[in-house]
Amino acid sequence: MHRHDFLRQLHHVYKPHNYLEIGVNDGRSLALSRVASVAVDPAFKVVTDISCDVHLVKATSDDFFARKDPLLHLRPGRNPFRAFARKDPLAWFGDPVLELSFIDGMHLFEYALRDFINVEKHSRWSSVIVLDDMLPRSVDEAARDRHTDAWTGDVYKVATVLRQHRPDLLVVPVDTSPTGVVLVFGADPDSTVLRDQYDSLLTEYVVPDPQDVPDEVLTRKTAVAPEAILRADFWPALSRARNVRRPRSAYAALRRRIESLTE
Ligand SMILES: C[S@@+](CC[C@H](N)C(=O)[O-])C[C@H]1O[C@@H](n2cnc3c(N)ncnc32)[C@H](O)[C@@H]1O
Repeated sequence: MHRHDFLRQLHHVYKPHNYLEIGVNDGRSLALSRVASVAVDPAFKVVTDISCDVHLVKATSDDFFARKDPLLHLRPGRNPFRAFARKDPLAWFGDPVLELSFIDGMHLFEYALRDFINVEKHSRWSSVIVLDDMLPRSVDEAARDRHTDAWTGDVYKVATVLRQHRPDLLVVPVDTSPTGVVLVFGADPDSTVLRDQYDSLLTEYVVPDPQDVPDEVLTRKTAVAPEAILRADFWPALSRARNVRRPRSAYAALRRRIESLTE
């Protein structure tokens, strides 16, 4: 299944009220959103019809997150129709919580790691964070110094870091074409682990080409079939938990249900 088909169906099963996209390019992934969206790219060239209420930001993701109130556009209280659709007054006027985020900007480890850190700060355990290009098909495709048409760079290392340093998160690789995605569940906006270790992570993971891509990544041995995750039975419960802001204590049971797909 192509990543755009996967993303389209993810919108359908998870039913987010808002969407953040980092890396827009010609707008093909943004075109799948029907909800309030923020989309960030310093060099977008949108050629596709866009069918959502979007704040299109011409900036790097780092500059975007450095702004005061970067997600103001997603506050339902700014739009009476949207506010009415949300019964939770906290969602009207509080800081917007990201529900579905797609990280597909600069394909270098340190950029994608920073994007994840910044997105997580605005997410909750019941949010879904998708990272693109996480399953390169060759060492060439995974090079930091781009020399192939299709290019993932070394962003696949973000999944390794999350598994190693953030066992509280659930990291699920999904076998989409062409270059795989990873879904992250269980976001904790209060966690400072990655921020605190950012410099030492760069020292450890930013290394010259060729990259030593693990076999498990190249063969997609542990990746879940996209169809299996999309038809899983946990999505309504996850959406409900998100909508009524169930406390983090509810994560454990849902995590077990999601994890059973990966066994
Ligand atoms: C692979 S394309 C995005 C494709 C799009 N998400 C889709 O699926 O159709 C990557 C985009 O990231 C943008 N980009 C590069 N550096 C960036 C940065 N620092 N912050 C945000 N976007 C960046 C590029 O301009 C490019 O348009």
